[in-house]
Amino acid sequence: MTMNRYWRLNSRPEGSDVSGALSLESEPMPELAEGEVLVRAAYLSMDAGTRMWMTEREDGYQPPLALGTKMVGLVLGHVAASRHAGFAEGDLVRGFGQWAENSVMQPELAGLMTVDDSIDDIRQHFGVLGFNGWTALWGIRETAGVKAGDNVLVSAAAGSTGVLACQVAKILGANVYGLAGGPEKCRWLEEELGITRAIDYKKEDIAAALAKVEGGINAYFDNVGGPILDAVLPNMALYGRIALCGLLAQYEGDGRGRGPEQFDQILMKRLRIEGFFSPDFADQGERLTAELKQWLDQGLIDTPFDVTDGMENVLTAYEKLFTGGNIGKVLVKI
Ligand SMILES: NC(=O)c1ccc[n+]([C@@H]2O[C@H](COP(=O)([O-])OP(=O)(O)OC[C@H]3O[C@@H](n4cnc5c(N)ncnc54)[C@H](OP(=O)(O)O)[C@@H]3O)[C@@H](O)[C@H]2O)c1
Repeated sequence: MTMNRYWRLNSRPEGSDVSGALSLESEPMPELAEGEVLVRAAYLSMDAGTRMWMTEREDGYQPPLALGTKMVGLVLGHVAASRHAGFAEGDLVRGFGQWAENSVMQPELAGLMTVDDSIDDIRQHFGVLGFNGWTALWGIRETAGVKAGDNVLVSAAAGSTGVLACQVAKILGANVYGLAGGPEKCRWLEEELGITRAIDYKKEDIAAALAKVEGGINAYFDNVGGPILDAVLPNMALYGRIALCGLLAQYEGDGRGRGPEQFDQILMKRLRIEGFFSPDFADQGERLTAELKQWLDQGLIDTPFDVTDGMENVLTAYEKLFTGGNIGKVLVKI
């Protein structure tokens, strides 16, 4: 019998101990109901925001995952079987499936879509042309309203979303500052990505480094929240904008956070802070993808991929998002 391996969420993870909460399981290949599609994974996307789904909080942007069920995540792969008129065997597709070799998806719920299989590197459907690309473009241009000449700061700048946000800001003519952990990431951001200045938040005094930015920070693309946000707030320019993309500093534990302590700076600097969430603009994905594809073809934007092989190594890949082991997009090749 052909078997299907998948990761099951057994308990709510304690702190950073995600591996203690999940187990690798095996089942007979699932049967499809009418309207469902079976997708054979080529790559699984590792996304930091999914850590929140493992908590029990009910007021997040996604309901908590039920214990004893398959871990949910974005999948890029080929249709292995279809009982849905919109999808045929062999189609290259992307959607919210499971951390599994084969995912059962209801296309309307999974946001399943066929993607271009003629591009040079299909991983770009999780890179420049994927949700991280859309998030970077939306957050920088629509939410933060970045214009040429702005000083733009990006946190988790060497991560998947951050690398793309830095490049979108550069394309729009901004001076780009990035926060990242360690000298190697900072060197890469300055020398390879060509941003104006990278700040090693693990070693440097962030507030002191930002105080040297002439005119202050006009737009902050925040992936982490926490103490870093407190270091940034007093260094924002008057009428600055903060696009709140993620709160990585508080995803572990119960996913909740306090603060910011420097809340009064929002009034003193007349700041605007706005959260944004990619599924809200997924209906504009086609337009965003077309724009990003043009930049990709022109060599203006790209991303490194950090690829781990094999279902059994999913948690090793996932951990990188929280320990900072990656530059660019973390993927698991199935
Ligand atoms: N709003 C949306 O629609 C949306 C969509 C996609 C992603 N996101 C958000 O974007 C953020 C990045 O997610 P991603 O999946 O692209 O992961 P990623 O940036 O590829 O990886 C996470 C990176 O964050 C840094 N990091 C981890 N913990 C940190 C901490 N406590 N303080 C500062 N930096 C920390 C690490 O790099 P260092 O070595 O530099 O620490 C790590 O490499 C997350 O907050 C996620 O929720 C939001």
